Amino acid sequence: MSTPLRHFLGLKNFDEKSIREILALAARYKAERKAISWRPLAGQTWALIFTKSSTRTRVSFEVAIRELGGNALFLNGNDLQLGRGEPIKDTARVLGRMVHGTIIRTFAQSDVEEFARYAQIPTVNALTDDEHPCQILADIQTIEEKIGPITGKKIAFIGDCACNVARSWVYAAEILKFQLVLAGPDGYLSPVTNSFVTQSHDVKEAARGADVLYTDVWVSMGLEAEKAKRAAAFQGYQINHALLAEAKKNALVLHCLPAYRDQEISEKILEERQQDIFDQAENRLHAQKGILHWLSELPVE
Ligand code: CP
Ligand code: NVA
Repeated sequence: MSTPLRHFLGLKNFDEKSIREILALAARYKAERKAISWRPLAGQTWALIFTKSSTRTRVSFEVAIRELGGNALFLNGNDLQLGRGEPIKDTARVLGRMVHGTIIRTFAQSDVEEFARYAQIPTVNALTDDEHPCQILADIQTIEEKIGPITGKKIAFIGDCACNVARSWVYAAEILKFQLVLAGPDGYLSPVTNSFVTQSHDVKEAARGADVLYTDVWVSMGLEAEKAKRAAAFQGYQINHALLAEAKKNALVLHCLPAYRDQEISEKILEERQQDIFDQAENRLHAQKGILHWLSELPVE
């Protein structure tokens, strides 16, 4: 019996062993970026279908694919027939006959899942309205490099706890067994939770004794019409010096980026902690290589 094709569609229902394999690969790729001879994507072409904007995810995947020996084909979702109503399943059937893997950034999680089902090639979720799993792997890599194993740590997520990034954090907390505290205003808490997660409106309480303070934008892509309403709702849900004073001494401050200064994070903190935050952004590249290699199932010597 052949083993099922690997995909990376989200952290929901994902497992610790696979995360650890990906992170170990990411660490090797980072430490040996110039010397490493693995080319798991040699002779392959991988498509990126993006219907939302991207800087980090797009560039890190395009560079990762090339450095792993493959070719990257960037496709703006709106330029495809998909944008004129061709069904996902037909797009998937076509790409499945032409390329070796696909990385998708879009709105509905079900679209990525449907694509994976019909394309029959490895498929990656590069952000949907539900999850941003690639981001969280790079975040965990960053945290473990800087403060050691994440298991048992307290991570405080401040701001829009209903967003995709927060939701992937919720799933990660259960898989890797760390304490996740989400603090956001009424109406902006996570719709999913588990026994490793607490949620409240109290930012100070969330930050108290935290090892990591983490935030994301107040207005996720696709929600631009809610900008004014959200700007009002999120007042007070900002990472700034007053909040950092509640956290553990030497607590890390992370942001998935892009950052909106003096909204979800103060300009001062962002600049003071830019080294860590841009190390985190750089780790997107190394983590993507870990994901792509893991999908290829090429044995590691
Ligand atoms: N953090 C992140 O995914 O950034 P981009 O939207 O620039 O890809
Ligand atoms: N929550 C944000 C993440 C951006 C990387 C969004 O979906 O726009």
